Amino acid sequence: MSITFDIQGKVAVVTGGAGILCTAMCRALAAAGAKVAILDLRQEPAEALAAELGNEAIGIACNVLEKNSLEIAAQKVMDTFGRVDILINGAGGNKPQATTNPEQSFFDLPAEALRFVLDLNLIGIILPSQVFGKIMAEQDSGVILNISSMSAFRPLTRIPAYSVAKAGVSNFTQWLAVYMAQEYGPTIRVNAIAPGFFFTEQNRFLLTDKDTGELTSRGRQIIAHTPQGRFGTPDDLLGAVLWLVSPASSFVTGIVVPVDGGFSAFGGV
Ligand SMILES: NC(=O)c1ccc[n+]([C@@H]2O[C@H](COP(=O)([O-])OP(=O)(O)OC[C@H]3O[C@@H](n4cnc5c(N)ncnc54)[C@H](O)[C@@H]3O)[C@@H](O)[C@H]2O)c1
Repeated sequence: MSITFDIQGKVAVVTGGAGILCTAMCRALAAAGAKVAILDLRQEPAEALAAELGNEAIGIACNVLEKNSLEIAAQKVMDTFGRVDILINGAGGNKPQATTNPEQSFFDLPAEALRFVLDLNLIGIILPSQVFGKIMAEQDSGVILNISSMSAFRPLTRIPAYSVAKAGVSNFTQWLAVYMAQEYGPTIRVNAIAPGFFFTEQNRFLLTDKDTGELTSRGRQIIAHTPQGRFGTPDDLLGAVLWLVSPASSFVTGIVVPVDGGFSAFGGV
């Protein structure tokens, strides 16, 4: 019997790689010996992270909503490393303008804000999957890992566009897993993780009071509905990530793994 989590020397592309959750993933990939290409809209933190990681990591400015930008980034990755073994589709997020509140009902959410959130979370994983998935198809191997959300299983209040987009991420994960396996073979796998609740810039305004720093009632409700009784830390995701991008999960494709302290298992009573 052999079980291996070994990703030494593998080439990993991480979109949104300079973000809070993906920075932890990039560090874990590099610590496990992978060569990491950090793709992010924000070039400076992507390059700073690459410098920190060493191990041949590179930072590349890239917009996941523009195929041309992705193709230029893919060319840089191929010129530097010659292949792509792992794609983590990490770019995503919500924005206040697409969130209902006492001053802004669902009926008034601006179309641009709704479209921004749908595009970023959905089109922003489909286009990189086309560009890097094609390279994997040509290589006959590769793994794609998407980032879904608790809002994909049952929509969370206040964030309709984010919820529907993340439901789409889980659905697309299954679709692409089947497509890749049937059209290109079992050595190309596609899975997702669904993080529970983690403090990051995109949700801080929903979870804490900006004046006092105290938890909002939503923040308190989340803790009350998380059986493990706390928010996650980015490092909590890493075991699931390393499992899903390594040969240890070679017969696993098309699944969405909750990493949520029990949130999705709890009915509230
Ligand atoms: N924080 C949470 O609690 C939580 C929970 C579930 C899922 N997620 C998901 O995890 C992923 C990472 O989230 P995070 O909390 O670390 O967010 P973050 O805002 O810290 O990171 C997102 C990164 O994506 C980059 N980005 C934004 N638009 C981009 C674009 N068009 N092209 C390229 N890069 C772009 C940003 O510059 C940023 O570095 C997202 O998909 C998010 O929806 C987060």
